[in-house]
Amino acid sequence: MPYGIDNETEEWLKGLEKKLYAKLKAQCLRLGSIMPYVPEHGCYYDMGARELTAWTNGFYAGMLWQMYHAFKEEEFRRAAEGIEERLDAALEEFVKLDHDVGFLWLHTAVADWRLTGNETSRKRGLHAAGILAGRYNPAGHYIRAWNGVRQGVANVDCLMNLPLLYWAAQENESPAWKQIAIEHTEMALRYILRPDGSSNHMVDFDPETGEYKDNPGGQGYESGSSWSRGQSWAIYGMALAYRYTKNQAYLDAAKRSAHYFMANVSLNDYIPLLDFRAPKEPVYIDTTAGACAACGLLELSEHVGEYEKPLYVQSALRCLKAVQAFCEWDPDKDSILDGGSARYDRASDRQVPIIYGDYFLTEAILRFREKAFLIW
Ligand code: GLY
Repeated sequence: MPYGIDNETEEWLKGLEKKLYAKLKAQCLRLGSIMPYVPEHGCYYDMGARELTAWTNGFYAGMLWQMYHAFKEEEFRRAAEGIEERLDAALEEFVKLDHDVGFLWLHTAVADWRLTGNETSRKRGLHAAGILAGRYNPAGHYIRAWNGVRQGVANVDCLMNLPLLYWAAQENESPAWKQIAIEHTEMALRYILRPDGSSNHMVDFDPETGEYKDNPGGQGYESGSSWSRGQSWAIYGMALAYRYTKNQAYLDAAKRSAHYFMANVSLNDYIPLLDFRAPKEPVYIDTTAGACAACGLLELSEHVGEYEKPLYVQSALRCLKAVQAFCEWDPDKDSILDGGSARYDRASDRQVPIIYGDYFLTEAILRFREKAFLIW
């Protein structure tokens, strides 16, 4: 039995997989190679046409590649390939890209290369990795997050982009790129993850000297608070860092991050508050954090001993069951997971369906069904 779960749960997961297939097949045939973000009036628009370099533009392709891997149907593959080709213009326009090139090209070109062996895709992935590596600042040992004036800012999200460097280092026989990923992870252990298991969103360094300045507030409530999606990036990102390095400190960090997350969501029926350290009212939630954490917990469960596994598998299951209540499975409607929030201070994309919520939901269901491939 996958993950050692009981028959009743297994049947429930089979049912979820069926709904996922029906929904994504219909969406794939209807939408083609668009790059969805948040639906407007219930319908997706093409974010790729509005802002091609937006960090979220790879997630739908990631869902399509997961479905192609699981069901081997050409429609999924063709739609994903179309998105990858459209992103070539973003690679050319590279000055607008930031640390999120991992989210963009792991889910498109690298996924394509891994599943089909397309050589052009491999080159696209390596090109994107070069852009990510070029953002490394040796003064502070961090990968610069964004462009513009924030030259000294690094963030927790970037842990999820580092697998692009681990992959490229191996492909290109370039250990320097793996070293950059390790340096950023070490920096995150020191300045972003807190000793109590919670996480800052960001850290600000002097970009010339590398001197630590502070931990400014980010997409959570305020500086010192506890943004739940950042927490899920910490769980999953550190578990992946362990996968690629086997450094015990990263596995321990993933566990600390997971235990803190699990303790907090247990107070709210496993639905993450947008920020675990914000005023009681208004209540804002973020289901994308729950879906991402479910995947991170399953990744973590793969790296611990037999008697430790159930803690992470059962917690992942609880997260998935909780967010499932927010799912729209009607195949004629765009998007699945409602209740996602991009950031605390922006009402327009607070508690709405967001494409990365759907990606992690898809990954979580297919992971439980043992039909997912590792996109990271
Ligand atoms: N940039 C990653 C996030 O919003 O979670």
